[in-house]
Amino acid sequence: MKIVRTVSELQKYISEAVAKNQTIGLVPTMGALHAGHLSLVDRARRENQVVVVSVFVNPTQFNNPADLETYPRTEEADMKLLQAAGVDIAFVPTAEEVYGDTPDTKQFDLGTVAEVMEGAMRPGHFNGVAQIVSRLFLWTRPTKAYFGKKDFQQIAVIRRMASTEGFTDIDIVACPIVRENDGLALSSRNVRLTPEMRKYAPTIYATLTESLEDRRQGKTVTEVIESVTKKLNSIPGVKVEYYSIVDPDTMLPVDNWNQVEHPVGCITVYFGDVRLIDNITY
Ligand code: PAF
Repeated sequence: MKIVRTVSELQKYISEAVAKNQTIGLVPTMGALHAGHLSLVDRARRENQVVVVSVFVNPTQFNNPADLETYPRTEEADMKLLQAAGVDIAFVPTAEEVYGDTPDTKQFDLGTVAEVMEGAMRPGHFNGVAQIVSRLFLWTRPTKAYFGKKDFQQIAVIRRMASTEGFTDIDIVACPIVRENDGLALSSRNVRLTPEMRKYAPTIYATLTESLEDRRQGKTVTEVIESVTKKLNSIPGVKVEYYSIVDPDTMLPVDNWNQVEHPVGCITVYFGDVRLIDNITY
């Protein structure tokens, strides 16, 4: 595996792959890799001749400086995992390398998919995601790019960015959420949970799963939102930021179950000071 820290070196290897007509799979990450990331890497490995994984804690997508500061950074362990997973190129740039030459002030046209939920709670977050992912798309010109469905809204935003920025030839692959045995969705942020909060955190998925039954039993969308929120908020130290049941294409809230075929419930919950997200398809 080549560990590449500059854009010019990355582009040299990409040009070689393109000259040989090789397919390129890109897995963008912010490091602190876990089995969820590795499932994306495995899929990229199976489906492409060259696999590129980027490891970069992208400052422009953090609207909260404390969150950027405390985001886990585990480069040495990450490199070992990527090497073992058969990755060809790990792209590990600095912020100067990514943003030094070109300003990071560009405002992307991300449409309504970026306005609600994470977009409303974290102003500028999705624009920052678009800034880094568009650069990665430009520099690696992947055949396929892989993203986890835990960040359900992010995938819709990236699809939108790809279509407005002319990356229509890139196949954006949405991969299933990977969970711990107790149901907690894998996240780099899980390591920051206190032992007590870690004990309660599986309640997120348990509550979402129970709500599937509530729907079957005839509860309305509003009733399901209320009951999910109430159950989680009853745990000391836990606060639901939002629970929205949305159209998976537009990300806009649905009023009733039949409005779309498979509405998706998207949740963000604070367990202490750790912000966790998850979702479920109804
Ligand atoms: O999902 C993430 O880890 C990040 O938002 C991404 C896509 C790597 C961009 O920094």
